[in-house]
Amino acid sequence: MKLKAGIIGCGSITKFRHAPEYAANPFVEEIVFYDRNPERAELLASQYAGSVAASLDDLIADPTIDMISDCSSNEFHHINSVKALLGGKHVLCEKPISLTLEGAEQIVQAQKTSNKKLMIDHNQRFTKAHQKARQLIKRKELGEVLTFKTSFGHGGPELWGINKTNTTWFFSKDRSGLGVAGDLGIHKIDLLHYLLDDEIQQVSAFQGTLDKTTVTGEPIEVCDNLVCTLKTAKGRIGTGAFSWTYYGEEDNSTIIYLTGGILKIYHDSEYPLIVVEKDGAMAKYQLETIQTNDNQTSSGVIDSFVNSILHEHEPPVTGEDALVSLKVILAIMEAAETESIVHISGPMSKV
Ligand SMILES: NC(=O)c1ccc[n+]([C@@H]2O[C@H](COP(=O)([O-])OP(=O)(O)OC[C@H]3O[C@@H](n4cnc5c(N)ncnc54)[C@H](O)[C@@H]3O)[C@@H](O)[C@H]2O)c1
Repeated sequence: MKLKAGIIGCGSITKFRHAPEYAANPFVEEIVFYDRNPERAELLASQYAGSVAASLDDLIADPTIDMISDCSSNEFHHINSVKALLGGKHVLCEKPISLTLEGAEQIVQAQKTSNKKLMIDHNQRFTKAHQKARQLIKRKELGEVLTFKTSFGHGGPELWGINKTNTTWFFSKDRSGLGVAGDLGIHKIDLLHYLLDDEIQQVSAFQGTLDKTTVTGEPIEVCDNLVCTLKTAKGRIGTGAFSWTYYGEEDNSTIIYLTGGILKIYHDSEYPLIVVEKDGAMAKYQLETIQTNDNQTSSGVIDSFVNSILHEHEPPVTGEDALVSLKVILAIMEAAETESIVHISGPMSKV
């Protein structure tokens, strides 16, 4: 069986992940591209021997398309993904699932109404070092998790996004909404839930716009740095640092401290996973390196989404999982704005 993919939004994440990974998947026969900036769609269609849809409605109305990647900017996910699901397509939606809980809930509800597959691109779950670390934690090979620290920072989205200037939508409050917290922080919240099999329930935070400016030299409307403290349902405590101002080198590392030692993930450029036992013994795993903005290797996300359709199983990152991570990020933003500790309540994800 061969599937046909549609992609909404033909910017950087489509160029570096969705288009090449659909094209490399043996069960995908064609990609139809749509962007409100048509030349971007045409460029990718010519590169991948695909076709172009004239409008979003045309893309969704095409009965030959089985699944759609929603790679539009953040403020459109709840509109485009809902339309695609209710139009009968399986949907792989980019993160953050939405800027608001209401938007995320609309997407989750549309999945339930349509009974189509919905997956959110929290790709950190798919890297080999994260998967191996989760396995070691689950098997309690180093005892119980006590504390953790996680970081995600690079030089900023103006170096990544398709238009490569400080006019990028990532810097606008209406469009990116949550700044670096929604861009990078949400990846690590999802990762912590996945690694620890636990959920963050209390948060405090500081955020700031420390360095990024608009083209006219004003500070951007959203935070470019955020540092938070986190407490989980199982009582573990840790920190998160998310930054668009780590110039010169990306940091995508997580360290987990357990009763029997330490797991250092993407902390060493040569060894993606280092296990340090309590007595100092060390095991270094030479697993694949993580994708960075400058080094985009296959994420495995598209293969996993396609498999969930072909084999009719639940995708590994559901809308509900992403909604829970969004809830944590919104709580972190509230904590930073009100300089208080915010408690998170409500439904938990399945991890
Ligand atoms: N999972 C990840 O690791 C990861 C990494 C980067 C970006 N992203 C996410 O992917 C999404 C896109 O980011 P990007 O880096 O590709 O941005 P980008 O600015 O490079 O490209 C966005 C593209 O979408 C198009 N677009 C926006 N809204 C549209 C709409 N309503 N209809 C049609 N086209 C539309 C724009 O014209 C542009 O070509 C964002 O939600 C972002 O957070 C995820």
